[in-house]
Amino acid sequence: MSNYHIKHLEEYFQVYRKSVRNPENFWEEVAEEHFVWRKKWDKVLEWDFSKPEIKWFEGAKLNITENCIDRHIHIRGDKTAILFEPNNPEEEAQHITYKELRKRVCKMANVLRDKGIKKGDRVVIYLPMIPELAVSLLACARIGAVHSVVFAGFSSTALSTRINDCGAKMVLTSDGSYRGSKTIDLKGIVDDALKDCPSVESVLVAKRINSDITMKEGRDEWLAPLMEEAYGDYPAEVMDAEDPLFILYTSGSTGKPKGMVHTTGGYMVYTSYTFKNVFQYREDDIYWCTADIGWITGHSYIVYGPLANGATTVMFEGVPSYPDFGRFWEVVQKHKITQFYTAPTAIRALAKENLDYVNKYDLSCLKVLGTVGEPINEEAWHWYNDHVGEKKCPIVDTWWQTETGGILISPIPFATPTKPTYATLPMPGVQPALMDENGSEIKGNQTDGRLCIKFPWPSMARSIWGNHQRYKDTYFSAFKDMYFTGDGALRDEVGYYRITGRVDDVIIVSGHNLGTAPIEDAINEHPAVAESAIVGYPHDIKGNALYGYVILKETGESRDRDNLKKEINQVITEHIGPIAKLNKIQFVPGLPKTRSGKIMRRILRKIASKDTKNLGDTSTLLNPEVVEKIMEEAL
Ligand code: PRX
Repeated sequence: MSNYHIKHLEEYFQVYRKSVRNPENFWEEVAEEHFVWRKKWDKVLEWDFSKPEIKWFEGAKLNITENCIDRHIHIRGDKTAILFEPNNPEEEAQHITYKELRKRVCKMANVLRDKGIKKGDRVVIYLPMIPELAVSLLACARIGAVHSVVFAGFSSTALSTRINDCGAKMVLTSDGSYRGSKTIDLKGIVDDALKDCPSVESVLVAKRINSDITMKEGRDEWLAPLMEEAYGDYPAEVMDAEDPLFILYTSGSTGKPKGMVHTTGGYMVYTSYTFKNVFQYREDDIYWCTADIGWITGHSYIVYGPLANGATTVMFEGVPSYPDFGRFWEVVQKHKITQFYTAPTAIRALAKENLDYVNKYDLSCLKVLGTVGEPINEEAWHWYNDHVGEKKCPIVDTWWQTETGGILISPIPFATPTKPTYATLPMPGVQPALMDENGSEIKGNQTDGRLCIKFPWPSMARSIWGNHQRYKDTYFSAFKDMYFTGDGALRDEVGYYRITGRVDDVIIVSGHNLGTAPIEDAINEHPAVAESAIVGYPHDIKGNALYGYVILKETGESRDRDNLKKEINQVITEHIGPIAKLNKIQFVPGLPKTRSGKIMRRILRKIASKDTKNLGDTSTLLNPEVVEKIMEEAL
């Protein structure tokens, strides 16, 4: 029996039982057999969820890039590590071998060091999906700098908030990016953001779209000439297992984004382990995850997990609709993709298009299909299964979070029988619990509960950057001695889990996590707006879309409503990014509030979802009459 590579259901159960009976032994064996350490750990696990404090492999020394790159050089140095597929299908794909990747990472490590970046410094990366993005993560890791990737679709305000929160010394960006037929002026966004970021000393700029940009003297420099001159070797910094590897921001239901801190050793072990099992990766496979590296999915399952396994991982710069809706399938055929991992929202969007876009390509190379980021509805699941997998590829519906670092609940293909809409069973070492509202664990099945995890797993976030108290309050206070995920879930009679959605004020739109409060704060910045409330409602492509209820100030009452709607979405775009734009905006005279002044979102959600038959008791409201008015004019 192999702990590291599970191939049958029986084996899964054996490994799972072993992993929960003695998690320390289990993870120690995995860590010992499959990674290179400069020094072994003194203790496998130290934990206390009440503080919360979690330490895996304490005392161990390593560098994650030695595991993701160096150790492969002698065995598979000429194998493609990163296969870059550009936005424009006419542009040639790039095959970056492990040897070449090592050279580029070392060169960039030297560039960063020459710019004064050292172990522990934070570097913000605001790059499109080009090879420099993956290289820059690894270069930071090589020298022990903490990377914080900001998705290059975020606005300048969102970018500066993140830069300031982590006190970044450097920003890595590009002149611009391609997105289908459009280009985006990334450097302009960075310039805007940096007006108010005193910690940033230098900006390195990769050239991608050859646009005319301004370079600020003494701060900005082109990356390519520096890379050219840099030395192609760099001794990896020796890191502690618990040294931070990266910070990645995720939205919360309140306040500013949370900088989730991930550390080195446990993250490496867990992402590598889950990559191997969830995708059943074999040496000659070509694995493609369509996510952006700006999200956790890209960190764990484009960069670290695949590379730790010596895999070939595809980086795709484009979008599924350019030059037409067949692009994904064209790339699958072209590169003979064996594992394909995408988001339900992409599947739903493509399922709406003509089937010819899929049928015209030979997809027989595919072995495993995956989804992530939000619940997949049954219809999308079947479309994916029938037309993409041709009913022969298991679909792994992987449930996890930025905070969890790696996949926690997922089928293991060819072992776990799949069931549409169910993420199925926990990964080895993962101990889920469903809790009721009174804080008791639900033991049976078929009851909806709050999904918690009872025991630490190696890749869990260790803190929120600069705010450990918030980490405790958000994840470890709702239920005693448990990590609370914020999701609802139910368990069926065989123990399969189905994620039913968020139980807090986070809304998942097209697989992106959006907190209601930051969007409301942005809208309230508009001079004509007095107050606002955002809720989600079902949308057949995005999963959820945003519905905004807006109260205008007296000065706004006379304004043209259509213009106001545009302006409100513009303010949101400026503060957060276009992903947070509202699909519907309704101007209302008031918002339903409890006597203590709390907005009754439950009612607003029902109105937005056109589910107004059973609004529940509204008599306890401060202003029940406003509900009628809102309903009359609902969109
Ligand atoms: O609500 C769950 C949903 O996405 C949330 C985490 O979002 P984020 O931190 O952005 O990470 C997304 C990529 C890992 C979860 O709390 N979610 C993620 N995967 C699934 C899911 N909901 C249902 N099914 C999934 N497979």
